[in-house]
Amino acid sequence: MHELKSTAGIAKPELYAQLARELHCLIEGEPDFIANLANASALLFHSLPELNWAGFYLLRNGELVVGPFQGKPACVRIAMGKGVCGTSAASRTTLVVPNVNEFAGHIACDSASNSEIVVPLIRGGELLGVMDIDSPKLNRFDAADKLGLERFAAVLLGS
Ligand code: SME
Repeated sequence: MHELKSTAGIAKPELYAQLARELHCLIEGEPDFIANLANASALLFHSLPELNWAGFYLLRNGELVVGPFQGKPACVRIAMGKGVCGTSAASRTTLVVPNVNEFAGHIACDSASNSEIVVPLIRGGELLGVMDIDSPKLNRFDAADKLGLERFAAVLLGS
């Protein structure tokens, strides 16, 4: 059993350093990517404050298909270039969206979401999918979250 460490009141750089260490412990020696994504989504959802969704969309035959996540049931398929996830995947860049209601083409899976960050998962030049994290709070994600979550994705991808 993995006991989640308390993250209450920790500053973001330290919080993300701790999450990267916890993720490393969780996935070490486990080659099953889906299993590791499942534990990663649980770790994020239960460690980061003010989230309503945390999980993954995986590239399957040219479109994004929902993978392991925590939160309410979500849209199953997202075309490349569509929504925040599809835009991040197509551009292979992290997108920080302070207000999803102002993002043209945002796909509302949970009406509680107000801000969002999407990090592309790229291994050896191959796009595997995206990590998507939603918050009910406007402007929830900043540069420290972007840095920390990109590091988290790198640990997940084994780099
Ligand atoms: N809002 C996302 C869709 C996925 S859900 O938030 C889980 C988007 O616009 O791509």
